[in-house]
Amino acid sequence: MIRSVVTGTGSALPVRRVSNAELAQEVDTSDEWIVERTGIRFRHIAGPDETTATLATDACKAALAAAGVLAVDIDLIVLATATPDQTFPSSATKVQAALGIPDCVAFDVAAVCSGFLYAVQVADAMLKTGLHAKALVIGAETFSRILDWEDRATCVLFGDGAGALVLEARESADNVASPDARGILATRLHADGRHNDMLYVDGGPSTTGTVGKLRMKGREVFRHAVVNLAAVMQEVLDLAGLESHQVDWVVPHQANARILDATARKLGLPPEKVVVTVDQHANTSAASVPLALDTAVRDGRIKRGDLLVLEAMGGGFTWGAAVLRY
Ligand code: UT7
Repeated sequence: MIRSVVTGTGSALPVRRVSNAELAQEVDTSDEWIVERTGIRFRHIAGPDETTATLATDACKAALAAAGVLAVDIDLIVLATATPDQTFPSSATKVQAALGIPDCVAFDVAAVCSGFLYAVQVADAMLKTGLHAKALVIGAETFSRILDWEDRATCVLFGDGAGALVLEARESADNVASPDARGILATRLHADGRHNDMLYVDGGPSTTGTVGKLRMKGREVFRHAVVNLAAVMQEVLDLAGLESHQVDWVVPHQANARILDATARKLGLPPEKVVVTVDQHANTSAASVPLALDTAVRDGRIKRGDLLVLEAMGGGFTWGAAVLRY
């Protein structure tokens, strides 16, 4: 059967790396509070010339090189972001232009922190129809531009960055337990708009006419995140016909180290199987899962044939998970 196989990963971070101690010089906070409550130690903050689209383009170049695929052979770009360069055109078309791809399908998806999981399911479905053969699936954000730097409860939590996958339609074994069953084995998405006011931006083109700033009821988001993420990971494993003990790596959305621990515990997964990058990157929203995946591929933790579960939850609420054999 045809499945969407990850043939390359890439990521990009802004040059400027900011420690908790540096942040504490500007914001009423401390390294101790941030590390204890979140596990975050550093975040990267975009400079004036670094944007969602430039970071995404750099991540794509790295992913294409890893896959051995030429940019001109890409026929689909799906870019997940809540912080596009402009309201329109889409950041996906900016990436297309920067990569010199003369013609393809290119669009953004907006599902905030779970945007990358939404992008993966959309691209996977489009590849499996046979309409497309080679896709770039991207999560890219510059949340530093929508943070209220006076609000210490949120501004210390986020960072900027981008991650990308090359997904290719390939022959893959039917039996999911077979090592030849490569690619995306199952995906599952959810949304519950009753929770819009838990995590949102207080502006936008159709309301205030301004960009607005991020607002979050952190405790409530935390509580929902643990319950929803554990549930959707179990759902996606059930859909694939696999069990949690078969999973080699969980690549979670990197919001808070305590959420990662609590979610893994609920599924009975040992912490050694969870890829953690929140200490280095903070919460990069839609970028966090592909950024963590690329980090773990490049440092040798994730190897070809490993069974991975990706998961994320964010504003909306939206949440989702995917299981794939790398
Ligand atoms: O990516 C989308 C998903 N987002 C998330 O998953 C975020 C989920 N939420 C969280 O990660 C946590 O709720 C936070 C890290 C945001 C907050 O942790 P918490 O343990 O829920 O703390 P809290 O908001 O209840 O605040 C506890 C105390 C408060 O002081 P009082 O009222 O107890 O005196 C805050 O004012 O910590 C204070 N506080 C801070 N202190 C120092 C809040 N932010 C800071 C700060 N530095 N940056």
